[in-house]
Amino acid sequence: MVKSLLEEVMTVSLRRGILYPSAEIYGGLAGFYDFGPIGTRIRNHLVNLWRTRFVENRDFVYEVSGNTLLPSPVFKASGHLNHFTDPSAECSKGHVTRVDTLIEERLKIPAEGKTDKELEAIIQEHKLRCPVCGDPLKEVKSFGLMFGTNVGGERRQAFLRPETAQNIFLGFKRVQTAMRAKLPFGVAQIGRSYRNEISPRQGIVRVREFGQMEIEYFINPDQLNDCPLFEDLAQVSLNFVTREAQEKAMKKSSTDYASIQLTVHEAIKKKVVPNQWMACILGDEVEFFKHLGIPEKAIRFRHMRPEETPHYSGGNFDLEIHLSFGWKEVIGNAYRRDHDLQSHMKGSQKDLSLDIEGKKVVPHVIEPSFGIDRLIYAILEHTYRPKDDTRGWTWFQIPNTLAPYHAVILPLLNRPELEEKASTLFSVCKQQGLAVIYDASGRIGRRYARADEIGIPKAVTIDPQSLEDETATIRDRDTGNQTRHLISQIPIILKP
Ligand code: GAP
Repeated sequence: MVKSLLEEVMTVSLRRGILYPSAEIYGGLAGFYDFGPIGTRIRNHLVNLWRTRFVENRDFVYEVSGNTLLPSPVFKASGHLNHFTDPSAECSKGHVTRVDTLIEERLKIPAEGKTDKELEAIIQEHKLRCPVCGDPLKEVKSFGLMFGTNVGGERRQAFLRPETAQNIFLGFKRVQTAMRAKLPFGVAQIGRSYRNEISPRQGIVRVREFGQMEIEYFINPDQLNDCPLFEDLAQVSLNFVTREAQEKAMKKSSTDYASIQLTVHEAIKKKVVPNQWMACILGDEVEFFKHLGIPEKAIRFRHMRPEETPHYSGGNFDLEIHLSFGWKEVIGNAYRRDHDLQSHMKGSQKDLSLDIEGKKVVPHVIEPSFGIDRLIYAILEHTYRPKDDTRGWTWFQIPNTLAPYHAVILPLLNRPELEEKASTLFSVCKQQGLAVIYDASGRIGRRYARADEIGIPKAVTIDPQSLEDETATIRDRDTGNQTRHLISQIPIILKP
């Protein structure tokens, strides 16, 4: 049977230690994956790239690192306990299915924002059945996505956070005071989030535990059109799917939305975005994506329709990436106004407003929320190269900045003098801060294949000529071409 691209990418990922099911030897648990040695390196590089661009290079962004388990009043105030649900239906055999995604996938019509009764009517009209066993589906019910537990002797109810954002709102006043931060400023967090998804699937695209990299930008509501990033980002080109384009397609029962290309500057002028800050945040993401190996044409910003957006939102724009199974949200960008701080002020009875020139101001928030796992899958899918006539193995064309290693060092033959030279070069590279790996086992072609399959951009081979003239070859992963260089120059050449 022909494998789907998703299956191919997941097969290589399993084989090469990029990722694998958690607790696999006990049969695993759906929706949980571990990153292996190679996946962890790629993940760390992605996180570091993000941190460098969005935190380290910005003097108005502070990073925090909060706990994942939080007491229940937090989620009562945030609304998660009552409203963070997905519509589900059970079949007579007890299989529970998420029905909005089932409708979207089977019927290619949007289902988000519809009531349980409306979804039930669609299921009955189109005779949709349980995707596991084919039995009819019963009534549609809301399924809570929060993982709960009880803490300590007092057994206080607590929940795993479904987004990293909540810690940021809870610590807002502490961060602002400690850093003497003035609006606008951002608070960033990289960490794990948990959602008891009804139907986890598509590898790491929808899982129950995942990584997020989020920033809450706190902005004076009078200064939403005064973003410090504007000068740098005004000319960045953005690919938009407007609400009008979606309505037009939906009238034809289609989800094939047309998109328009606008610069950050034009998007503000034409009021496609609610304010300058939102436009700049989107432009910033496009610039970041230039380093990830995902082509620009596979990226779009979809203005979420009113029925998909909470009542307090001033405009949500999902960054979607085109994958082999359709467009998928990878970043949620939301203009949340002052909803979160107001909710926690009400819930905690603590004042989270700031005193600005004698006036109490509750900052507005714009939030870009990146999903790490989904982004890694998108990078793997877009950089995956199948076997072909020129190369008899699959490989990943991962950009150098994300690749697990800068280079692999290979002695061509199993001879002590070659191995000694190769291991000396390996040590020198390491001393110079390069991430290198050493591979001496098997035929050279096999070793090139192993390196290509985990996306290592360069392979350095020490061969008999190296003993005569102190040179070695560097093979380029993308072209397969080999060039010869002085060994002393190789660490300099390999530096990214
Ligand atoms: N704080 C806002 C927030 O969490 P979201 O749109 O629910 O917004 C943001 O999530 C991102 O987190 C998504 O774009 C996606 O990349 C990732 N994400 C959400 N649920 C996920 C899941 N079940 N599995 C993997 N990634 C998920």
